[in-house]
Amino acid sequence: MSVAKKPNKKITTRKLLEMKEASEKISMLTAYDYSMAKIIDGAGVDIILVGDSASNVMAGNETTLPITLDHMIWHATSVVKAVKRALVVVDVPFGSYQGNSSEALRSSIRIMKESGGHAVKMEGGIEIKESIQRVLTAGIPVLGHLGLTPQSIYKFGTYTVRAKEDVEANKLLEDAKMLEEIGCFGIVLEKIPSTLAKKVAKAVKIPIIGIGAGPDVDGQVLVLHDMLGITQDFKPRFLRQYADLNKIMNEAVGNYIKDIKDLDFPNEKESY
Ligand code: KIV
Repeated sequence: MSVAKKPNKKITTRKLLEMKEASEKISMLTAYDYSMAKIIDGAGVDIILVGDSASNVMAGNETTLPITLDHMIWHATSVVKAVKRALVVVDVPFGSYQGNSSEALRSSIRIMKESGGHAVKMEGGIEIKESIQRVLTAGIPVLGHLGLTPQSIYKFGTYTVRAKEDVEANKLLEDAKMLEEIGCFGIVLEKIPSTLAKKVAKAVKIPIIGIGAGPDVDGQVLVLHDMLGITQDFKPRFLRQYADLNKIMNEAVGNYIKDIKDLDFPNEKESY
């Protein structure tokens, strides 16, 4: 099994553009805390996303809607402390940028100032163009997010594949071109047909990072707890599980409990 190279140079938004130009694929994973961020940064992942999926994974909520700006800043602060190389992108949570562009700017500035993150991500196209523009003019790098945008789950009503019909597919393509034009450094495309994702990746010069968007994009992102097999009840078709940490952790904790009950732990060497 080949192991990823671990170059030391810090990842910047410019570097990501160069990677697309050189056809070098970009790796991205979520992290919400210091310990996990340290492991995945050390393993050489290019982008760490402090995703609002923390709402599901960390807090056990059904959707990403309840997580607050303060929560996101707390998670991002922990991640930033661990990271030496990756670009840290922080989700601007639901309700803290859709109102107007001043609100978007205020929230993004708080994220950058208080957490030390390197960029923000916002969900949506033309509807939030003004907000994204305002944030960009403050010098804050923005990663777009189109396709299945979980903050709009109650509008969609379902987590199924988006943009299968021409009208939605055409809008998505136009939104992607618009996001490039106003200065986003990349776009996440979530759960859309591979053919459409390929078309978008060809139509823009900025990197397209896919999740459930097929292989013909510039990089891939997964939720860390899903790909490590910690999450139990979420197994979409796009997810490749690289470990079964749930099983490993379950066994470890079971052994710990058994050793205590059997009066085996702690032994003499483990005592003062
Ligand atoms: O919050 C998140 O984890 C995300 C990824 C699914 C892209 O936005």
